[in-house]
Amino acid sequence: MTIYSQKGQNNPPIIQFCETDMSKKHQPVLPVDKRTFNELRDELRKRLLPYLRRAFNQIRPISRPQILDIGCGSGVPTLELAHLSNGEVTALDTDGEALQRLKTKIRQANLENQVHIIEKSMTQMDFPNESFDILWAEGSTFVIGFKNALKSWKRFLKPNGYFVVHDEAENLEKKLHDVTACGYRLVDWFSIGDDIWWLNYYEPLKREIQQIRRSNPTDPELKTALKRAEKEIQGYQKFPWRYRSVYFIMQKPDPSS
Ligand SMILES: C[S@@+](CC[C@H](N)C(=O)[O-])C[C@H]1O[C@@H](n2cnc3c(N)ncnc32)[C@H](O)[C@@H]1O
Repeated sequence: MTIYSQKGQNNPPIIQFCETDMSKKHQPVLPVDKRTFNELRDELRKRLLPYLRRAFNQIRPISRPQILDIGCGSGVPTLELAHLSNGEVTALDTDGEALQRLKTKIRQANLENQVHIIEKSMTQMDFPNESFDILWAEGSTFVIGFKNALKSWKRFLKPNGYFVVHDEAENLEKKLHDVTACGYRLVDWFSIGDDIWWLNYYEPLKREIQQIRRSNPTDPELKTALKRAEKEIQGYQKFPWRYRSVYFIMQKPDPSS
């Protein structure tokens, strides 16, 4: 299991949650359609949540924080943040279909008062300055670039607010430099090895796809979704190191202190 981090041995232990036999836990109900396939992907995505929790635990406790989840997708991190923080989470994405799925999950979890959806591009965010205690961006800063995101979204943070980014590990040294160059205090960073992504996400996904394929699915939407997922897995197998990822936990200093 590969976990590198700034604070090395002093970090709290990560939950070892690799389970190689997913067949019993996430057996898809066949015949599968695109909706149930997406649900399966969300279930697998949840297996990376211990790392979100580790990042969240680096933030000093804030009573009912205002959180902005940028590029929230179908909201696996969003809902976890709502549970962990007991605050209000604004979930923003351009993908209307993913947001519809998140909407259903919010209703099912009775979180309507805590989680609000905004269908909008991260390039068009117009929140007032200092609106949020925490900005959270997982797998989404690539859209405008890491440094650009740090620079242009800083104004949305309250003084002493936190910005957590989960991004590719590529150019790590430069990104660590960007954090301080953009005026943040680096609270911590840690990386998630490609082996963790494989064991917890891509490998079980591959097995589930093989099982779905055996049922000869005809739903064209599902077939497209399967092809896309297979391409992603092939990408992983070709360049596994590209799938290492890093959590950056940053704080915006308070100029008055
Ligand atoms: C890799 S997914 C990450 C989803 C979620 N944060 C997670 O970790 O499970 C990247 C997300 O960024 C969203 N995205 C891409 N371009 C965007 C934009 N211009 N504005 C807002 N969201 C965008 C995509 O729709 C997608 O949901």
